[in-house]
Amino acid sequence: MQSHHHHDQHQPGHEPDEAALAELVDLDAEVLHSYLSDVIEWAGGLADGQPSRILDLGTGTGTGAVALARRFDQADVIAVDVSAPMLDRVRAKARELGLAGRIQAVQADLDAAWPATGPVDLVWASNSLHHMKDPDQVLAWVFAALRPGGLVAVAELDSFPRFLPDDIGPGLEARLHAALTEARAGELPHLHSDWGPRLSAAGFTIEARRRFDINLAPPLPALAGRYAQASLMRLRSGLDGRLSASDLATLGPLLDGDGPDNVLRRDDLIIRAARTAWAARRP
Ligand SMILES: C[S@@+](CC[C@H](N)C(=O)[O-])C[C@H]1O[C@@H](n2cnc3c(N)ncnc32)[C@H](O)[C@@H]1O
Repeated sequence: MQSHHHHDQHQPGHEPDEAALAELVDLDAEVLHSYLSDVIEWAGGLADGQPSRILDLGTGTGTGAVALARRFDQADVIAVDVSAPMLDRVRAKARELGLAGRIQAVQADLDAAWPATGPVDLVWASNSLHHMKDPDQVLAWVFAALRPGGLVAVAELDSFPRFLPDDIGPGLEARLHAALTEARAGELPHLHSDWGPRLSAAGFTIEARRRFDINLAPPLPALAGRYAQASLMRLRSGLDGRLSASDLATLGPLLDGDGPDNVLRRDDLIIRAARTAWAARRP
């Protein structure tokens, strides 16, 4: 089974590195928690009154769903994802946090059809639209699901996060990121898209667009080393065969060695990342 569906990303449970992706999105939310609370606060402040029904599209492990449920403590949140294992994590997290009554995990493949959500007041889509085959179709469904006056907030990464000080293999991370963008161009053509015009084309009125520059210096949050390790390992495995011998040699001690150079033990990591969010209203 597994081998036959190896290339089908949307076979629930058959994503080979799904557990790694789940860990990575949890680390992202944990280490960049001040960005997450800023962007949720920003989007929440643009919502029209107190939303009572919220959708989180491509929820992953539910970090956005949880943040929204906390921000709007009367709201019900529907967390949508194609992946059953991701949704299991959402349910477990909601139970642990006492939010099981307000966060509902719903499996749907947004490349195929919109789930029966009923009318909603606020839609959140973080780093998920670029995974969709036809994001413009998804935005049309979002428009239809939102009540008039309802808000959609799209947050996307401008660039992959950087962790290494400049003197390590100079330019290494820039080369890794460029190579990954190139390697994924066929599979993820909507990565780094400008979502403003696409939201307008779907009928929305753009309310605001904001770039969040994330710039963390030591002392970093406790899980920063683990986040750096998980991110860089994902880059390296995604770039199998595309990296130069010298870049691989630089990465070795950072990721595999048990010495002080390992990203888990260094004290000179930084975190630089940029995310852009668009908030758009259904007239
Ligand atoms: C990079 S994760 C982002 C998770 C979370 N929103 C966050 O900001 O951390 C992208 C998520 O989109 C989901 N996804 C990808 N394609 C999808 C589709 N066609 N329908 C529904 N969800 C999809 C993936 O399963 C994954 O959980």
